[in-house]
Amino acid sequence: MSKKVLAHRGIPTLAPENTMAGFNTVIDCGIDWIETDLSITKDEKVFVIHDDKLDRTTNEKGSIETLDSSLVEQADAGSWFAEKYRGEKIPTLGQLIDFLNIHKLNANIELKGVVGDDANHLANSLVAQFAEATDRLDPDVQLIISSFNPIMLMKMHELRPNLDYAVLFDVFGMGEDWNLYMQACHAKYIHPDSRGLTEAKVKKMKDYGYQINVWTVDDINRAQELFSWGVDGIFTNVADRMQFLVKNK
Ligand code: G3P
Ligand code: MG
Repeated sequence: MSKKVLAHRGIPTLAPENTMAGFNTVIDCGIDWIETDLSITKDEKVFVIHDDKLDRTTNEKGSIETLDSSLVEQADAGSWFAEKYRGEKIPTLGQLIDFLNIHKLNANIELKGVVGDDANHLANSLVAQFAEATDRLDPDVQLIISSFNPIMLMKMHELRPNLDYAVLFDVFGMGEDWNLYMQACHAKYIHPDSRGLTEAKVKKMKDYGYQINVWTVDDINRAQELFSWGVDGIFTNVADRMQFLVKNK
């Protein structure tokens, strides 16, 4: 099993995160994996965006699950980063799948939790649309589906039991019961926070047979340490600078 460097939301030091411009920098740098995030609007259209709100990464405002897709479609997701990216759009799920297929790019796609009064309905719609979209993926494109939210993963697993699942844990969420979540979600991968991760914890995860991808690792010394402990992959904002750790190994 080759080691992975996963470009976290693209290469957000070089181009605006979670945009096609950002994903193109990944291709230009010869990187094999991206990490990206899915959310759903009030009118049930699925978009590629990390934050719950448009505020930080676009020229519009508001929580995604309260907005109509027309507003999300018109948002400028590039000019906040640099003038030359003015006009970049928030990609749709369909555009993401097309991009992965065209470039044979592997992806970790993270299901963001859904909040609000309509959360259960929107969560079902998000996973149903994502499940259908995965049917269109080129068989050569590898996919890992991750979430901090075990309910999202369980819903998705019900629809597509043969796909690969990962549970995300942050440093505070990683209690002694982590393996319960892993098993309930049918996860083959564990995605722990780099903060607080020790060699002993890595060994324990390995002893259970899990593959381990650690987030978010932007320090080369830490990345080397993690790989020396046996982790399988790292999520990084500087994939262009980390790629040498895994290429041709
Ligand atoms: O999948 C790794 C990482 O993306 C999880 O955190 O908040 O950046 O989506 P976040
Ligand atoms: Mg993410």
